[in-house]
Amino acid sequence: MAISSPLLLSLFVLVLPIVPNSLAQSNSNITLGSTLTPVGGTTSWPSPSGDFAFGFRPLDTDPNLFLLAIWFDKIPNKTTVWYPGGTQPVQPVQSGSKLQFTSDGYLSLVDQAGQEVWTGGTSSTVTYAAMLDTGNFVLANSDGSFSWRSFDHPSDTVLPSQVLGLGSVLQARLMDTNYSAGRFILNVQQDGNLVFYPVVQPSGYSYDPYWASSTVGNGTQLVYNETGSIYLALANGKNFQVVSAGSKPMSMFYQRATLDPDGVLRQYVYPKNGTNRGWSVVDLQPPDICQAMFTKTGSGVCGFNSFCKLNGNQSVDCECPPHYSFLDPSRKYKGCMPNFPVQNCYAEGTEADQGLFDMVELKNVDWPLADYEHYQPLSNDLCRNNCLSDCFCAVVVYNDQDCWKKKLPMSNGKVGNYVQRTLLIKVPKGNTSQIQPTMSKKNDKKTWILVGSVLLGSSAFVNLLLISIIIFISFYPSHMRRNEKPGPDPSTIGLGLRCFTYGELEKATNGFSEEVGSGASGVVYKGYLHGEGDTCIAVKKIDKVLRETEKEFAVEMQTIGKTHHKNLVRLLGYCNEGKERLLVYEFMSNRSLTEFLFKGPRPDWNRRVQIALGVARGLLYLHEECSTQIIHCDIKPQNILLDGNFVAKISDFGLAKLLKTDQTQTNTGIRGTRGYVAPEWFRNLGITSKVDVYSFGVILLEIICCRRNVEAEIEDEEKAILTYWVNDCYREGKVELVVDGDEEAMADMKRVEKFVTVALWCVQEEPSLRPTMLKVTQMLDGATDVPMLPEPSYNFNLVR
Ligand SMILES: *[C@@H]1O[C@H](CO)[C@@H](O)[C@H](O)[C@H]1NC(C)=O
Ligand SMILES: *[C@@H]1O[C@H](CO)[C@@H](O)[C@H](O)[C@H]1NC(C)=O
Ligand SMILES: *[C@@H]1O[C@H](CO)[C@@H](O)[C@H](O)[C@H]1NC(C)=O
Ligand SMILES: *[C@@H]1O[C@H](CO)[C@@H](O)[C@H](O)[C@H]1NC(C)=O
Ligand SMILES: *[C@@H]1O[C@H](CO)[C@@H](O)[C@H](O)[C@H]1NC(C)=O
Ligand SMILES: *[C@@H]1O[C@H](CO)[C@@H](O)[C@H](O)[C@H]1NC(C)=O
Ligand SMILES: *[C@@H]1O[C@H](CO)[C@@H](O)[C@H](O)[C@H]1NC(C)=O
Ligand SMILES: *[C@@H]1O[C@H](CO)[C@@H](O)[C@H](O)[C@H]1NC(C)=O
Repeated sequence: MAISSPLLLSLFVLVLPIVPNSLAQSNSNITLGSTLTPVGGTTSWPSPSGDFAFGFRPLDTDPNLFLLAIWFDKIPNKTTVWYPGGTQPVQPVQSGSKLQFTSDGYLSLVDQAGQEVWTGGTSSTVTYAAMLDTGNFVLANSDGSFSWRSFDHPSDTVLPSQVLGLGSVLQARLMDTNYSAGRFILNVQQDGNLVFYPVVQPSGYSYDPYWASSTVGNGTQLVYNETGSIYLALANGKNFQVVSAGSKPMSMFYQRATLDPDGVLRQYVYPKNGTNRGWSVVDLQPPDICQAMFTKTGSGVCGFNSFCKLNGNQSVDCECPPHYSFLDPSRKYKGCMPNFPVQNCYAEGTEADQGLFDMVELKNVDWPLADYEHYQPLSNDLCRNNCLSDCFCAVVVYNDQDCWKKKLPMSNGKVGNYVQRTLLIKVPKGNTSQIQPTMSKKNDKKTWILVGSVLLGSSAFVNLLLISIIIFISFYPSHMRRNEKPGPDPSTIGLGLRCFTYGELEKATNGFSEEVGSGASGVVYKGYLHGEGDTCIAVKKIDKVLRETEKEFAVEMQTIGKTHHKNLVRLLGYCNEGKERLLVYEFMSNRSLTEFLFKGPRPDWNRRVQIALGVARGLLYLHEECSTQIIHCDIKPQNILLDGNFVAKISDFGLAKLLKTDQTQTNTGIRGTRGYVAPEWFRNLGITSKVDVYSFGVILLEIICCRRNVEAEIEDEEKAILTYWVNDCYREGKVELVVDGDEEAMADMKRVEKFVTVALWCVQEEPSLRPTMLKVTQMLDGATDVPMLPEPSYNFNLVR
């Protein structure tokens, strides 16, 4: 006996845990101390008939997450009818979690971290639990009464025989597959009224109701009776019918009513036998939520800027207006956003932007709220134009002589034949497929910044490699894009310039005291804009401008103001007061290419390469990528400025039209600056963008050799004019001479040769032989081969 008792004990230990579970499965009485786990062991407790089960089930969207739930266990989709938490549903848990029916008689859900996340029931008199055939999970006392019932703690579904007392709430889930708290509740209010509310998450705050039984003082409880009627029982013994299944006997159909994620309470039936299996809607409340919804605050059923449309009784569809798209196509209830840059508001006048938009008619749709202006009487045409010229206006509704203006975001949108409204929505002119959402533009920039920082932090060789790749990637496609999409670049639309008063600029420059440069067009002063990040500015005072009206000047300024490129000095604003014409630019701390190249020690070769590429890109932008082609006409080192990071920025562009002819003429009698001007200036030929290409060629050579194009006081007369001398070296196959003494450059001879060849192509006397700036950038960064130069006889018919 003494020997056998340990054996007996171990047998007992082995058998004991199995017995209660198998018992529980067979007779559906769950004993104290039983446990459920998501994987392995017992995962659910079925009802005696097997129609329902209580336990863990994996999410459709993520099989590693498990929801504690009650579901229809006999139908393939195992439709969930209950989950814990009510208006604050318990989040799905991971494997390693467990549900304990504790020896103290309550339910305890413990997550994988050992944290208790939910409890059900508290009574110490509980002796067993049971999953009933009605779908009700109960904790029972020894006398057979129930101390806790899942029916008393509903989630989004009610089942036949379920009764909800005053104060009960059904909380819709967020989406069919996401059990988080959704956007609607059905409240069996303490005051006896049954009310549907949209709620906002997080917080669950209720907006205006969209349906109510209007039974204040009379309602006592919500009943789902055995014949499929759902009604509010009233104090006078009568019933207020909410929905009804009609003749769908429980013996042949499963039934449920669910407050669906779209806010509609739908009653469903599911035939237990037969071929046509599946849930079908037999009744619903409210019958048309799209019509019923009308909340002063909040978006409505489908999110902001969208339309709600009934799809039979089965579901609510959300739609976006033309030129708008879903914020999140997988969560359409989040609403729609314009997929174009919306109209900008300028400080004064909106003429520039107005022309970019059009009003498109939409019939049988309405956003009943969000009006901010109402005109009466006003004709349709005036109504339309009024919206076009108002940057706040997104939509107008007109009806006879009434004109309502609405602004973004619009709410409670609906579409359907019942909507007797015609509406005009503001959309960009032309085809939107050509206008990219602004978001992708931002991303481009981010990538650029990212790549830029990678560049700064890596070795020279890797840099060169990266630079070539980046330039290839960033320029080639951008050119392609331009060809596909004529018209203004939307990212530059409406970036307004500031109009300064003369007094403001006088103050900013401390009475024009600090001169930082002077050129053909005027003197440049340094200044500060206080109170706005203390921006450092450069103010250019244009001495003599063409006698033109202030308006023409302002129009010209807007053109320049719309140019935005890394390699262009940014115009911040202007002053246009009386006879005064001043331009306000961002200040460039590293002055101009003149100081960089010709004053002080020879700068770093890699930095020079970068600058050359930057100037090329800036010119490419002016010639081909901005909305109006800009020929600079005066490219020279003084006009290439360097910012704090030695990024080259072209200045003085766009001014050619503004300046009096004699002002840009030098003593050679031509526009532009001696040494940089293309020969066609002398020959009275048509001036094209190729004049800038010529000047760029000269500057490229200066950057390579770190000397001025024309140096009269040089010992070796052959070298007096750089373009000729480099050409000679090239012809004689001695390109290395041009970087004599520059070890960094000599270590990079391949690039030096390439740059020299490109430069010599640019200074071809015949304009048509010169490459375009696009070709130049492609050749410089290696995207295209550099062809052999033409025969020398053709070249350099000197114009001395
Ligand atoms: C469940 O337990 C209660 C009380 O102990 C008992 O009356 C009932 O018959 C049991 N039910 C089943 C199906 O075993
Ligand atoms: C459900 O949606 C909420 C809110 O968007 C999100 O936080 C949560 O992760 C989602 N749950 C699942 C299981 O996808
Ligand atoms: C509520 O009860 C009062 C008194 O019985 C009755 O006059 C009223 O019509 C009832 N209202 C509804 C909505 O049943
Ligand atoms: C259920 O309610 C409906 C409507 O109030 C009623 O006609 C029907 O008789 C009720 N059924 C039962 C079984 O009480
Ligand atoms: C449903 O079909 C099963 C067999 O598949 C049968 O035993 C049962 O009686 C049927 N029930 C009804 C209500 O027709
Ligand atoms: C089961 O669920 C899937 C996916 O949610 C759905 O496509 C299918 O129609 C459902 N089947 C029934 C019978 O409801
Ligand atoms: C929608 O439900 C109503 C009853 O509320 C019914 O008369 C109608 O036929 C149903 N329509 C569809 C498309 O199911
Ligand atoms: C937009 O493009 C489509 C074809 O892509 C064309 O049919 C339509 O006329 C265009 N609309 C406008 C306003 O240009």
